[in-house]
Amino acid sequence: MTAPLSPALAPYQTATAEELAAGRRALMGGGVAGQAAFIVDHGAGAVVVDTEGREYIDCTSQAWSLGIGYAHPKVAAAVAEQVHRYTHIRTGFETIPKLLLARRLAALAPGDLNRVAFTLSGSDAIEGAMKLAMRNRSGASTFLSLWEGYHGRTFGTMAVSWPHPDNIFGRWMGPVLRVPAPYTYRCPFGDGMTSEECVEACVQFTRQAILHAVDGPIAALIMEPFQGNGGMIEFPSSYHRKMRDLCDEFGLILIWDEIQTGFGRMGAMFAADLYGVVPDIMVIGKGLGGGFPISAILVSDRLTGFRPGDHSFTHAHFPPSMVAALATIDAIEEEGLIEKCRTMGDYFTSRLRSMQERHRLIGDVRGPGLMIALELVRDRISKEPARREAAWVVHEGMRRGVIFGESKYLGLGNVVKIKPPFVITTAQADRVLAVLDELLTELEAHGLPD
Ligand SMILES: Cc1ncc(COP(=O)(O)O)c(C=O)c1O
Repeated sequence: MTAPLSPALAPYQTATAEELAAGRRALMGGGVAGQAAFIVDHGAGAVVVDTEGREYIDCTSQAWSLGIGYAHPKVAAAVAEQVHRYTHIRTGFETIPKLLLARRLAALAPGDLNRVAFTLSGSDAIEGAMKLAMRNRSGASTFLSLWEGYHGRTFGTMAVSWPHPDNIFGRWMGPVLRVPAPYTYRCPFGDGMTSEECVEACVQFTRQAILHAVDGPIAALIMEPFQGNGGMIEFPSSYHRKMRDLCDEFGLILIWDEIQTGFGRMGAMFAADLYGVVPDIMVIGKGLGGGFPISAILVSDRLTGFRPGDHSFTHAHFPPSMVAALATIDAIEEEGLIEKCRTMGDYFTSRLRSMQERHRLIGDVRGPGLMIALELVRDRISKEPARREAAWVVHEGMRRGVIFGESKYLGLGNVVKIKPPFVITTAQADRVLAVLDELLTELEAHGLPD
């Protein structure tokens, strides 16, 4: 069922077919997810409903950001009141939500990450972290980043991310050394390696890359603790400890991009808590705002901060988002959502592992928490990526009421993602698993449709 509309909102939530068509003609695109098959009417919990009243269980949490679910009542109520008090406030002014959120994040963050700067999107926060690293390693402007890493789509963040297809933007990208990381299902140094051998080979390669760098001193290593957009790649915890040690040995700043992993997605508040490693700079976004745009850079007490004007944006201090973030953190704590994420994650993963015994297309099942990936392969021995099959599962899943994620985007990947809001119910999880089982059974029996 669609949701009723108040007179204030009705003019902006109803449109004729002609108005919709004109809007589509005027929109330029450039996003990553392709054309969705429906128009959103409303959402609640893990479900989104379209304007025809059809329901979909959303295993993408939109952009992996709605950890607490659609339209969480606590967040909605707090923001609704906030927007009647004030909305846009310049960065130089103080507001109580800004100070409360800074205090709260400093208390939640691991180790000595006790200072916070706010921005609105993940990409601009990552660029801020890169600037901070350069401030603290004066004269160093080269960055180390990992193969398949993803940090955003501004020029600076594209430079440290996996290459965009048809990338014509290279001349605006700064110096970056990319090093292989332990994608243990397909170790870059050879398939026969154990996880620990793969870790060691990657660490030693990185050490040599640092020793032989010729583009000038390296400011920082920037990495995701779990690579989301680049293929849902989980690293052994020994890799995290060894990379921390390597940064310390060479005096490099370690930047962890926790934009996807932060705020419970892996069954811990931060991946740093899960792996027991504290970076020097940590960047958060997505799930922090409970559906509102906000990101933050958390910095170690040992580093110097920004100088005035280093990183300033019109809307970087946006109180409605700050109130949303405070309400989101409250919801996570009061409703035990991290524990819920862990429990539902274990439920999904163990069911998927038993499905793997029946479905030859499932090459690998990865977690933890609700950061779940299925790597589809045409053959378990050769591990030939089943890209078209993965794209079909995502496309067909949508028609059957489940929104699966796909990695990489633009049909470049063979990984199906299951990353729903943590509030997903067991009945909804069972429905997701049933649809997936049905789709894989059809694919294995009949192959891809022409
Ligand atoms: C790990 C990671 N870093 C950075 C970003 C960029 O964030 P934004 O799209 O908010 O700029 C993303 C977005 O998907 C991400 O997953």
